[in-house]
Order: sequence, then C-alpha cells, then structure tokens
Amino acid sequence: MKNSEVISELDEILEQYPSGYEALLPILEDIQDRFNYLPEEFLKAVSERVQIPLNRIYSVATFYNAFSLKPKGKYVIQICKGTACHLMGANLLSEELSSLLNIAEGETTKDGLFSVESVRCLGCCSLAPVISINGKVYGNLKPESVKKILKKYKK
Ligand code: FES
Repeated sequence: MKNSEVISELDEILEQYPSGYEALLPILEDIQDRFNYLPEEFLKAVSERVQIPLNRIYSVATFYNAFSLKPKGKYVIQICKGTACHLMGANLLSEELSSLLNIAEGETTKDGLFSVESVRCLGCCSLAPVISINGKVYGNLKPESVKKILKKYKK
C-alpha cells in the first residue's frame, strides 16, 4: 500500500476518535476490522498521529488475541480447543483441516482464502466439537463434515 493511501485510510479512521491512550483500542479494532490484520505501516502512522510510542502500540496489539500482525485469510476458521471440544475430538478436526488446506494452525493458505487458528471456548460447548468460520458456528462435527463445509466457502 502506498504511503498516501495509508494516510488517507488512517485519516478516515482517526477522525472518529480523540487522540490519546483511550482511543488506541478502538482505533486498532477499526484497522483490524477493515484489513483483517494490523499492517505495520498503519501502526507506525498511528504512533505518530496519536502520540503513543510504537512499542506501546505493539504491546497492546500482541496482548489481545483479536489482533493479528500478520495478514489473515478472507475466511478465518477457529477450531475450539476448549475442554468439551477437546474431549469430543477437536484434534481430529484440526488434523482434517490441516490436511485439506495444507496449512498448520496459525497459518494462511497461499491463495489468501483461509486462516486457521485455535481458540479456548466458543461458548457453545453443548455443540462440541465446534469450529467457526468468520463467526458462523458449525457444531457436532465429524472430520468428514469439514470438507463439505469448506466447499461452500471455496465457491
Ligand atoms: S469448549 Fe468448545 S465451545 Fe466450549
């Protein structure tokens, strides 16, 4: 992204907030929502514009799981690894996803379509094992169901 594009995108986001620490989280959330990750050039620009040291911004950005410093795929698949899902076979789902997408947890497919990550509990343990794709929950899964679900997103 060109520097002028960064400034213009950032202006749009920053004009909604006052400067100072209290605005940092909502600003980062906006950037994350818009780009699906926090591009480095944006963080530098945020630091200059709102007068917060870059290392402080990085510590916030790396503390919260909702933020990513690496680009994510168009579809983010979360595999629940909480106790209920673990007991009901979450690892088998994880293996199936890795094998179908040819990536490990924490990675993104080369075509930029899917990212896979694990989470602690998606809050619907009675449906274990569970995955979510961009927030849509799929429960009571068997490894063989995963391929069919992915097909819908590949269209
Ligand atoms: S443990 Fe998986 S949804 Fe709660």
